[in-house]
Amino acid sequence: DVTAVNSSGSRDIVQVLLENNKNYLVLYASQTGTAEDYAKSFSKELSSKFSSLNVMCADIESYDFDTLNSLPKDIIVSFFISTYGEGDFPDGSFSFEQFIITASDDALSLNNVDFTIFGLGNSTYEFYNGAAKKCRKYLVGAGATQLGPLGEGDDGRGTTDEDYLAWKEEMLEILKSKLQLSERDQIFSPSYDYIELSEINDSVALGEPSKEYLPNEKLNVNAQGVQVGPFDHSHPYVAPVTSSRELISNSEDRHCVHIEFDLRGSNLKYSTGDHVAIWPSNPVEKVNQFIKVFNLNPDEIFELKCLDETIKPPFPTPTTIHAAVTHYMQITGPVSRQFITQLVQFAPNDEIKERLVTLSKNKEKFADEITSKNLNIADIIDIINKDSEKPFIAPWNFLIESIVRLQPRYYSISSSSLSERQTVHVTAVVESSFNEVTNNATVGITTNLLRNIELVQNDENDSNLPVHYELDGPRHLFESFKLPIHIRRSTFKLPSNPQTPIIMVGPGTGVAPFRAFIRERVKFLETNNDNLTLGKHLLFYGSRNHDDFLYKEEWPIYAEKLGDSFEMIVAHSRLDPGKKVYVQHNLKERSEEVFQLISQGAFIYVCGDAQGMAKDVNETLIKILAEGKNIKESEASDIIKALKVSGKFQEDVW
Ligand code: 2AM
Repeated sequence: DVTAVNSSGSRDIVQVLLENNKNYLVLYASQTGTAEDYAKSFSKELSSKFSSLNVMCADIESYDFDTLNSLPKDIIVSFFISTYGEGDFPDGSFSFEQFIITASDDALSLNNVDFTIFGLGNSTYEFYNGAAKKCRKYLVGAGATQLGPLGEGDDGRGTTDEDYLAWKEEMLEILKSKLQLSERDQIFSPSYDYIELSEINDSVALGEPSKEYLPNEKLNVNAQGVQVGPFDHSHPYVAPVTSSRELISNSEDRHCVHIEFDLRGSNLKYSTGDHVAIWPSNPVEKVNQFIKVFNLNPDEIFELKCLDETIKPPFPTPTTIHAAVTHYMQITGPVSRQFITQLVQFAPNDEIKERLVTLSKNKEKFADEITSKNLNIADIIDIINKDSEKPFIAPWNFLIESIVRLQPRYYSISSSSLSERQTVHVTAVVESSFNEVTNNATVGITTNLLRNIELVQNDENDSNLPVHYELDGPRHLFESFKLPIHIRRSTFKLPSNPQTPIIMVGPGTGVAPFRAFIRERVKFLETNNDNLTLGKHLLFYGSRNHDDFLYKEEWPIYAEKLGDSFEMIVAHSRLDPGKKVYVQHNLKERSEEVFQLISQGAFIYVCGDAQGMAKDVNETLIKILAEGKNIKESEASDIIKALKVSGKFQEDVW
């Protein structure tokens, strides 16, 4: 069971640590798995570089910390903390957060604790690395001692990896001198016993999509093969797709899909503004490439046995190599320099070793030759092996531990739980970027998967419907198609009083939650006939032109039903050559009305691209406030900040 806390069953962090003879503690608070990945990689590096360290790496969710101050003085705690929403801790960290808040009232309560801290955040948000900063503040308040600087990984600039490497280099030096560690060449020491099994049986995990077909699956399927909840980030619901259509017309290379999932019979609930997580699987050709490059036998069945009680398996086993590569490992997507560094130990000769070392040490070369070309792990190995006599193959048990887990992808739900109680709508742009080396497109795996679903009602000759899918090939026709999903609650919510005016800004797929908001209001009016007038609902939308105007045919219907209370103001950026019209230009144009609405207590919502759009929209709103109130922009900026803190200004940006 992947979700087990630890096999000892205890939640006492210090007890579990000492009973397992660990002498270093790494703790992570992760929402989507990034903090977890960095924490694990840090732990692995400490154990493989310093023979005297025996590192325990744990999820903050899984333990209680009341005994933390009884940690022996020479044990250091390294925190990896992700920030969500308005500077918040990840969902599962509530009790840890309460613990450190209380601890910070007493400057002696954690005075025995030495810690390091790395935050994972996004600088386009207001409260950049807010959770990590709060965590540090409370720990210091409780008398704990911070070692080294607060590391700040910035996903907004896309530099998390480099930020981490720079922080880590500095940190390792500090730890070396503090703990008097002597460094050796990295040697991979497995955390699991790898046991090859001879035959497939009922308990073999074949990926989330196959869940419902395994009657004996313990996790979330009962004896009748029916999925039982609760469904959450560790137990997805395998939901039928009931509708799938393309939203962009007249374009060969740009795609945006509208997908509907059926929740009937699942007990799965959402509320308008929430996110849905879709659990992807890797495309067949990428799986095949990986298996070939690493010379693996896809049918091999194996089980992983944790070597001590503090470890969780990276994915459910027993499983097959094919299932692990398809459903559990992130084999596509960017490769980190850190990963290349770890490969060095397996180089079969000096020449390959040299190449790997150069790549891993040289930031610019790495960006130039790997990152900018969108190469995946198998592509890199292929290139390295090209002119080499002895092919380079990293061992499978190393790959299992070093390649990060395939994570669910989150989308803002575009339906309303008031109008579509049992259905979740997703609006997703299909990502694609070009890979020069392999001469094909590197594609967003989830969105391409969604795009490749085409449903048919009755196709007689297709009795054996495929469970897997190929990308870039013909679109497959499915009589029924299911994907694992779960719901993530969000704080992106309409004001409870429908008379409160709202301003929504959402170009591109940023319009998704606003379609949900508007559908919610339409349904509300239909079911409440007491002649209530809605507050003004002003929607700023942007697209390139008419062809990528999402849900173009729906908006007039909503406008008719909502009357004067709904207005949509559209910016087309590429309709008139030489004239880019963006949402913020329209906001500016309507500044008087926008200012009036804000003065009347309007809620403001921004959804979509964080780097460009959300930033520009924020600046525009500051200008509008400054002008309207005749105050300095810095003061207007403080007002905007206060609106964000109070929840009257909400962002859902990525
Ligand atoms: P562009 O691609 O023509 O520049 C949805 O993606 C819409 O958002 C497109 O019309 C896109 O315009 C626009 N867009 C791109 N950058 C933006 C920014 N910084 N602010 C607002 N809109 C932007």
